[in-house]
Amino acid sequence: MLPLLILLFLTSATGQSQNQTRTETETSSNPPKEFMISMADRMELLLLDRELISNLVQYAEKLQEKVDVLQRCAKAMRTPLQASKGREEEYLSNPLHSFQLIRHMHEDWSHLEKFMRQPVGQDQISFLKNKATKFPSVEETEDATEAIYRIILTYNVQPADLDQGLIDGMHYNSSISVKDCFSLGSLFFQWGEYGKAAEMLAYSLDQVNPEYYSVYDVLEFESSEVFMLLARCLVEMDMEEDARTTLMAHPALVEHSERLLTLYRNTRHVPVSWELMPFLPEEFNQICRSWHQNKPSRLHCRYNTTTTPFLRLAPLRMEELSLDPYIVVYHNVLSDAEIAEVERVTEPLLKRSVVFDGKENKMSTSKKRTALGAWLPDDNMDVSGRAVIQRIFRRIHELTGLIINDRQDMQLIKYGYGGHYDIHFDYFNTSSPITKARGDRMATVLFYLNDVKHGGSTAFTDLQLKVPSERGKVLFWYNMRGETHDLDSRTLHGACPVIDGTKTILSCWIHELDQMFIQPTYRSGNRHS
Ligand SMILES: *[C@@H]1O[C@H](CO)[C@@H](O)[C@H](O)[C@H]1NC(C)=O
Ligand SMILES: *[C@@H]1O[C@H](CO)[C@@H](O)[C@H](O)[C@H]1NC(C)=O
Ligand SMILES: *[C@@H]1O[C@H](CO)[C@@H](O)[C@H](O)[C@H]1NC(C)=O
Ligand SMILES: *[C@@H]1O[C@H](CO)[C@@H](O)[C@H](O)[C@H]1NC(C)=O
Repeated sequence: MLPLLILLFLTSATGQSQNQTRTETETSSNPPKEFMISMADRMELLLLDRELISNLVQYAEKLQEKVDVLQRCAKAMRTPLQASKGREEEYLSNPLHSFQLIRHMHEDWSHLEKFMRQPVGQDQISFLKNKATKFPSVEETEDATEAIYRIILTYNVQPADLDQGLIDGMHYNSSISVKDCFSLGSLFFQWGEYGKAAEMLAYSLDQVNPEYYSVYDVLEFESSEVFMLLARCLVEMDMEEDARTTLMAHPALVEHSERLLTLYRNTRHVPVSWELMPFLPEEFNQICRSWHQNKPSRLHCRYNTTTTPFLRLAPLRMEELSLDPYIVVYHNVLSDAEIAEVERVTEPLLKRSVVFDGKENKMSTSKKRTALGAWLPDDNMDVSGRAVIQRIFRRIHELTGLIINDRQDMQLIKYGYGGHYDIHFDYFNTSSPITKARGDRMATVLFYLNDVKHGGSTAFTDLQLKVPSERGKVLFWYNMRGETHDLDSRTLHGACPVIDGTKTILSCWIHELDQMFIQPTYRSGNRHS
């Protein structure tokens, strides 16, 4: 079951500019936040959270001030009356006391009422309300939850590991709250992963801290919900006895337990459609995990000086990862200055990347890939950036010996935490204006522009091959078999979810018809007609 998703141009190079201006004016007034990809945007959120906590403390202090004043008022009023206790008549026979009582009753309580009615901490409430526009949206929260879900699944993180912040062999020194666990458990449930959901929910219950009961009330977190969802998972797993025990364990659910069990039994859960799941195949996940080591090969590193004159002058360290299909890595191809320049000119062009869905025949953002992307060169690009783009095209020619012409373009892709690309082929294998004009994507050149601290490797599923993201490195492979130009399905690959940091790559696809003067092209059997 291979995803029929292939990348396509966002829009044709010319059509792109017309609507660009409109989009840009829209976004400049209220630039969309990229909490997944931009550390700066997440930093803003963290600082806002801190600000809101101080605001909450201020609000509590305002309330406390009022409480203090009220207690002082009560004390001031109670003190003169203390003498009256048990000898009320004697007390009232004192004319001073009678005067005091009447004056006090007439004047003071109405002032107190006025004081009691005065709203407290309105500034703090307004402050919070005004900041609400900066909070992440439902969709952004879903993205974040799915990102951590993907990390958990791909890197096989157990609930107990989460508590220790242990992900794929690295310690992140963090723990996860009851509500976080519940939210993840609900997601696993929604997708029909009842076993994992049950583990996560049971773990969530372990995290309940009696000290925070009143906090849970404020946050509208009901422990009974966790018990009910856990019981429901157990019913889905045909473990009805365990489900009953779970319900009986919560005082508020005891008397409803049989009714709930019947309900769960009779209305079985229908998981969200497979298509909508952030699903990554297990054979892909296995390669992503840090314990996966590429098979030791007889291949060795050498300086490839044969392709072009450039390489005779400046030999690059080349590593052959696979001879069939041909996959090689070149090291230190781009300089720090070149990388910085590429990033500088593309940063303003980045947009949520879309993928082409062969089945739906349309482009849309997709769970199959979560990243920002920009096509290069771009009409809106700072002209000063042209030089570095041309230099990179020339470098690609020098590395591969293939023809890179005026129509060549490439895409910068930036993945944030949890950012990934599901397994796919780079070739289209469809009949489209692009493939008609230029042939299919014969080869792929992928520049890694940064070191990803953890995760984010490129994984070739069939070849059991993992290529970590390392700054300045270039991965080059053929998507077609040499002589016949048969599409090579062994090039199935994807991007492992990023755990820590971001991953920026530059991808360039080389089309077969552009090579017609240097390589004979044969139409072969395994293509779309
Ligand atoms: C520009 O946007 C308008 C309205 O959103 C749309 O009708 C039109 O087709 C777009 N033009 C291009 C070239 O994308
Ligand atoms: C984990 O974080 C806490 C609080 O930030 C710190 O006190 C502690 O030393 C850290 N532990 C490790 C192992 O880094
Ligand atoms: C050098 O690289 C080119 C293109 O990647 C390849 O065709 C050629 O066989 C390589 N030469 C050596 C000596 O490895
Ligand atoms: C290309 O598409 C055709 C027709 O849809 C299909 O039969 C063939 O298997 C595909 N080739 C590859 C390599 O996926």
